[in-house]
Amino acid sequence: MFDPGFLWGAATSSYQIEGAVAEDGRGPSIWDTFAATPGAIQGGDTGAVAADHYHRFPGDVALMAGLGLRGYRFSLAWPRIQPTGSGAVNQRGLDFYRRLTDTLLDQGIQPWPTLYHWDLPQPLEDRGGWPARDTAERFAEYAALVHEALGDRVTHWTTLNEPWCSAFLGYATGRHAPGRRDPAAAVRAAHHLLLGHGLAAETIRGDDSHVGITLNLTHVTPVGTEPADLDAARRIDGMQNRLFLDPLLRGAYPDDVLADLREVTGFGHVHDGDLKRIGASLDHLGVNYYAPMLVGGSSTPTQSAYVGSPLVRVADGGRPRTAMGWEIDERGLLELLLRLKDDYPAVPLYITENGAAFDDVVEHDGVHDAHRVAYLDGHLRSCAQAIGHGVPLKGYFVWSLLDNFEWSFGYGPRFGIVHVDYATQHRTPKDSARWYAEVIRRGGL
Ligand code: FCB
Repeated sequence: MFDPGFLWGAATSSYQIEGAVAEDGRGPSIWDTFAATPGAIQGGDTGAVAADHYHRFPGDVALMAGLGLRGYRFSLAWPRIQPTGSGAVNQRGLDFYRRLTDTLLDQGIQPWPTLYHWDLPQPLEDRGGWPARDTAERFAEYAALVHEALGDRVTHWTTLNEPWCSAFLGYATGRHAPGRRDPAAAVRAAHHLLLGHGLAAETIRGDDSHVGITLNLTHVTPVGTEPADLDAARRIDGMQNRLFLDPLLRGAYPDDVLADLREVTGFGHVHDGDLKRIGASLDHLGVNYYAPMLVGGSSTPTQSAYVGSPLVRVADGGRPRTAMGWEIDERGLLELLLRLKDDYPAVPLYITENGAAFDDVVEHDGVHDAHRVAYLDGHLRSCAQAIGHGVPLKGYFVWSLLDNFEWSFGYGPRFGIVHVDYATQHRTPKDSARWYAEVIRRGGL
């Protein structure tokens, strides 16, 4: 069961909701550039206006207070704070986050900032992006600036959101900004993201500053017991989970994953001392979970985000799916949480994202999103069971507070518990928002 201090929250990210991309001195990010590339985003959508949260944040915080949220996970746009990714602070950009955190605190909502949710300043990409070691150093500098400004009102910091996506969708498949297709660069990016996290943690951590990172983890099972299927599951678990968990919580890359990746690149970019820093960096771990993965061996090579493992296929588990086509299976979350407890040193865990897109219908009396309620209810039941088994789970943030810009899918998929009419920017809490408010009020299901 959930204890009274359990942190009930909701999450968003800067580029997905803020809009105002050219205001108050913000510089361009890789997502502005990518969204302007023909064919990169469905419908040619961009984050230029998004949910206009930059202008509407007081109303949005009032909405959160109305729902009884105890925590709000948001991200800071690096190019608002350092428009070119290095050098002096743009105070007007930082002021936005000062006002936001103050407004949250006034309402008794804990600000839970993420320093990087994918919007790298474009000038840093032009100098090599995450495949370049220098970006890790720049990130630590930026983290120190933000910590200096907000450290008196923020206690829990998240450095990066889902470095797997930044590295492998950004630099291997090209589905995300900056849209590069260079598997070796993606492997270097993964390391420099972890290093940037480690360096940032060193500058931030202190008595009142706890540091975490958010990973997109999943529960992987093989379709059968053939050696090729077992090997596929080992590889995908390696790339999706252990490539990040092991350095962070054990201070070493897993040998089998290094061996798989050696087909793509050497590891000269990993310097002495890097893993020691990365391995000593966490006070808590953020887990984003959406769906499990069922995988098997394949005889046809495919290029995917799982670089170095071309003979793997993702199979159909036969379960109902969300509007993203992601299979719904809350048991995967329970298995994942139990596995974290069994395989890694104990560290407080937070679900920093969990939620679902469905084809919501706006009716005259609201948005009756029963599918989303069922999804959230099922996954929260898994959380409760995990806690019952001794998993140190301390909080849960639903993805997402608001409908928003879903990256390369544009505005089609709606993940919000609050509906956004993009033509008027009118917000309508869905049934799921009312249901979640009641869960929070009762302190559980
Ligand atoms: C995660 C991202 C988040 C959102 C959800 C649906 O991978 O962190 O921004 O797009 O997926």
